[in-house]
Amino acid sequence: MTARILDGKQVAKRISEETARQARELKERTGVVPGLGVILVGDDPASISYVTAKERACAVLGFHSSECRLPATATQAELLKAIHQFNNDPAIHGILVQLPLPRQIDEHAAIEAINPDKDVDGFTPVNVGRMLIGQPCFLPCTPHGIIKLLIASGIETKGQHAVVVGRSNIVGKPVAHLLMRKAPGGNATVTVCHTATPDLAEFTRQADILIVATGRPRTVTGAMIKSGAAVIDVGVNRVPDETAAKGYRLVGDVEFESACEVAGSLTPVPGGVGPLTIAMLMCNTLEAAQRSLNK
Ligand code: GUN
Repeated sequence: MTARILDGKQVAKRISEETARQARELKERTGVVPGLGVILVGDDPASISYVTAKERACAVLGFHSSECRLPATATQAELLKAIHQFNNDPAIHGILVQLPLPRQIDEHAAIEAINPDKDVDGFTPVNVGRMLIGQPCFLPCTPHGIIKLLIASGIETKGQHAVVVGRSNIVGKPVAHLLMRKAPGGNATVTVCHTATPDLAEFTRQADILIVATGRPRTVTGAMIKSGAAVIDVGVNRVPDETAAKGYRLVGDVEFESACEVAGSLTPVPGGVGPLTIAMLMCNTLEAAQRSLNK
């Protein structure tokens, strides 16, 4: 079997076209232009490239964006001040604090400082709580993008066994919830595996839908995949490559070549989940702008 490659770029493009259309309509009707405030602390190259991609998406969609860059040595107080400035800026509807943050920063306290109405990442305790009990909220972008991709690709989740590898707050935990909830792209039976799972392959081989989000290349190889399974690779890892212009190439958490032989469908890296994360961030920012009118 050669897996069908799930084109995240194509699905993200369709979602973004609809977001752009709604943003134009909002502007014509009310004069409001959705605005995203981006905070980047430090100079981690991967974080810089993610933030750049998010700002570029704002420009393409005609959104306003404002960047606050703080040095790697920034204090908690400096970061909280930047968050409060965006909280109080009426032109900013969504706030994104790029993670991870340097060690001296208390990440939980930083996230809690974001006004939940501007929390377009869906990371604040208020939005996570609302998500878990099924109230309206901002859904976290990568997990929501994964669900959108499954739906757009015609991959049935209802009654299927979904196995999530990884238990991060950004991907593993929320995507497990979205897969199990009573909603389109949900209704799956979900197993979550992590670093303390003794025999990972025993679980991954049972997956009809396998979501891999560990941040570790080759976490899953073809031998660990059930024939015909849908495999969603969330990893973005830089590995040294002298033949590449930048001196590195991007690989996921799944060994692409061997997975391709066994899986029914598979996301590539890059071009799989990544574009959907950005598309969902833009959706949330538009929604935050729309909601701000009802205040
Ligand atoms: N770091 C990795 N993924 C994300 C994300 O979706 N949002 C933020 N803010 N930081 C991240």
